[in-house]
Amino acid sequence: MKDRECLALCVRDGRLSLLDQSRLPHRQDWFAVDDVNTLIAAIHALQTRGAPMIAIAAALLVAVRVEAGDDHAAVGEAIARLRAARPTAVNLMHAMDALARALEDDDWRTAVVETAEALFDDDRALCDAMAEHGAALISSGERILTHCNTGGLATAGIGTALGVIRRAHEQDKNISVWVDETRPLLQGGRLTAWELATLGIDYRLITDSMAASFMAAGEVDRVLVGADRIAANGDFANKIGTYSLAVLAQYHDIPFGVVAPRTSVDAGCARGADIPIEQRAAAEVRGVTGAAGELAWAPADAAVANPAFDVTPAALIDHWILDSGVFDRLEVEAGVFQFGGAAVING
Ligand code: MRU
Repeated sequence: MKDRECLALCVRDGRLSLLDQSRLPHRQDWFAVDDVNTLIAAIHALQTRGAPMIAIAAALLVAVRVEAGDDHAAVGEAIARLRAARPTAVNLMHAMDALARALEDDDWRTAVVETAEALFDDDRALCDAMAEHGAALISSGERILTHCNTGGLATAGIGTALGVIRRAHEQDKNISVWVDETRPLLQGGRLTAWELATLGIDYRLITDSMAASFMAAGEVDRVLVGADRIAANGDFANKIGTYSLAVLAQYHDIPFGVVAPRTSVDAGCARGADIPIEQRAAAEVRGVTGAAGELAWAPADAAVANPAFDVTPAALIDHWILDSGVFDRLEVEAGVFQFGGAAVING
C-alpha cells in the first residue's frame, strides 16, 4: 500500500495512525491502529470521527490487515465488525460493502488494498467537487453558520460544509463563520474553531442556544452543515442540533444547505425516519470530558437522553450540495438521488 496522509490520518510503511480528535485542540496526539478492536474503540470514543473519515480509516485498516497476512475469513470478519461500529453514518457501510465485494475477487488481496486506496483518493476528489459547487452559491461578505465539524478532520480532503467555506475564503469572498459549539461533545468549539483558526478564516464561536437570536438580528446569511446519511427523499441525519437550526433558518428565511458526498447518500433508505440514530452515554450530557479531564455538573445519577444525531426533513432544506452539483427541493422530489452519482455507490 502506498503512503497516504491527510489532516487526521496517516498511512506510512503499511501502518495506520490517527490523530486523537478527543484531545484537540490542546493536544495533537497520534496513535497507531493495528487491529480492529483498537479502531472500534477509537470510533466509539470519537477519537476518530466524521462520517467519511470513519469509513476511510476502517477501509485502510482492513488493507493493513490484508498486507499483514490475515486470511480471507479473518478479513471478512474484520469488515463485518467494522461495518457495525457506528450505526447512523452510512459511509462506513458503503465502504465495507465495497471491500466485501473486493473480497470476492480471485486476487482478493490486491483488490481489497486497491479498493481501500481508491476510497481515500476518491474522498479527496469528492470534497473538492463539493467545495467548487457550494462556493459558487456564496456571495461576498456572507456570514455563514455551521454546526459540528465537517472539515479536514472529518474527511480525507478539505471537508464537506467546511470545505465549501474554505473554498469561498480562498476565492476572497470575505466570509465569516458562526461556529455552533455543538453540545454535548463540542466538535464545533474544539475542532471547527481550531480548523478555522489554522486556515485563517474569520469566525466567532457561539453556544448552540445563541443561533436563534443572531438569526433574528439579521446576522446570519446562510447555514451550511454536513450529513451522516441522506435518505432517498432528501431527509438527512446529522449531528444533534442540526434539525433545530433548519427550523430556525426557515422561520428567519435564511438559506439552509446540506453538503455531502455521494458516499453519504443511502438510496436504499426511503426516508429520514428509517435512519437508525446512535444513542450515547449519559456522562456526555451530565458534564464534559476533554484533555483537561472530566467535569460533571449534573447529579451523578441524573436521568439522561443522548441521541447523537437528529433528522432534518427535506421540506426544511434549500440546497443539497453534492459532489455532482447543487440540487433544489423540486429536483430532490423528482428523485435525483435515485439516478444521480449516488446510485453508483448504492448499486
Ligand atoms: O459524531 P461526529 O462528530 O462523527 O459527527 C459528525 C457530523 O455530524 C458531521 O456533520 C458528519 O459526519 C459529516 S462530516 C463530513
